[in-house]
Amino acid sequence: MEYLSLKNGVKMPLVGYGVADIRDEARCGALLAEALAAGYRMIDTAAAYENEKAVGNAVKKSGIPREELFLTTKIWIQDYGYEKAKRAFQKSLERLGTDYIDLYLIHQPIGDIHETWRAVEEMYRKGYARAVGVSNFEMGKVAEVSVFHSQMPYVNQIEMNLLCQQKELLQYLKENGIAAEAWGVFARGTMGILEEPVIRKLGRKHKKTPAQIILRWMTQREVPVLIQSENGVHMRENLDIFDFRLEEEELEQIAELDLERSVYLNYSLPETVARLGTARFNT
Ligand SMILES: NC(=O)c1ccc[n+]([C@@H]2O[C@H](COP(=O)([O-])OP(=O)(O)OC[C@H]3O[C@@H](n4cnc5c(N)ncnc54)[C@H](OP(=O)(O)O)[C@@H]3O)[C@@H](O)[C@H]2O)c1
Repeated sequence: MEYLSLKNGVKMPLVGYGVADIRDEARCGALLAEALAAGYRMIDTAAAYENEKAVGNAVKKSGIPREELFLTTKIWIQDYGYEKAKRAFQKSLERLGTDYIDLYLIHQPIGDIHETWRAVEEMYRKGYARAVGVSNFEMGKVAEVSVFHSQMPYVNQIEMNLLCQQKELLQYLKENGIAAEAWGVFARGTMGILEEPVIRKLGRKHKKTPAQIILRWMTQREVPVLIQSENGVHMRENLDIFDFRLEEEELEQIAELDLERSVYLNYSLPETVARLGTARFNT
């Protein structure tokens, strides 16, 4: 596994296993056991995924020392606000069965992000989180955090894939010492991402699968990636990406595939804001 050093020196694995859609406790436990055995050390969950307890149990059962793992969780909109956020953070700690979170994120840029960030900063200062950040924040929202707070996020977890490369945001984050972490890298297998001819050609050349080419393209540019897979072969394949490098000219070919638009969410649409803003979970 290769790592990215965050601005505060915390080392973050470049490939992580996400559990967004794995709500069933037994299924989540079994898949995490397989992922940890395959070599994953970063797990991405969220209060809204309603599986933090299953993650905590799987971690405990694995016997892997806590300091070898990198646990990310996120606060959902319904818990935004200074006092509510502090309570939500404690509940996440309890469910995960740990006394610190490696990376704690504000899940969505909707609602009272400022009072929430004040609580998140405090959790960081007190040592309950090794790093803190945001998710799905566009440039203006990240700038808002920098204008109103002294603590900048260390990470912005965002949708990023061949069609939505986020070049401008990536550049802005880099200039501000914030790491971009990618979700949606395979667009859930839709939009023909894994059949893209340029990617298939590079796969044949490097003797790697299209998925591995895409993951290398991200990690080679120091973007940590999250992948969800319920297939053991895919799980292992997604970790086997550090024995080759894409050439500059190949990175340029991939850059040309950008459609500069989200495959999933458009935060400037009222329906996106309404749907996310009113979604409630058992947090
Ligand atoms: N911050 C946010 O708002 C946010 C939003 C969405 C997701 N996330 C995080 O990102 C994680 C990943 O979710 P995602 O939505 O980004 O899904 P994704 O990784 O883009 O897609 C998952 C799909 O890719 C397939 N896949 C995985 N490895 C493959 C391989 N090597 N070859 C072919 N297909 C492969 C999986 O199928 P198989 O099961 O068959 O392998 C699954 O259908 C989530 O679990 C969550 O932790 C965060």
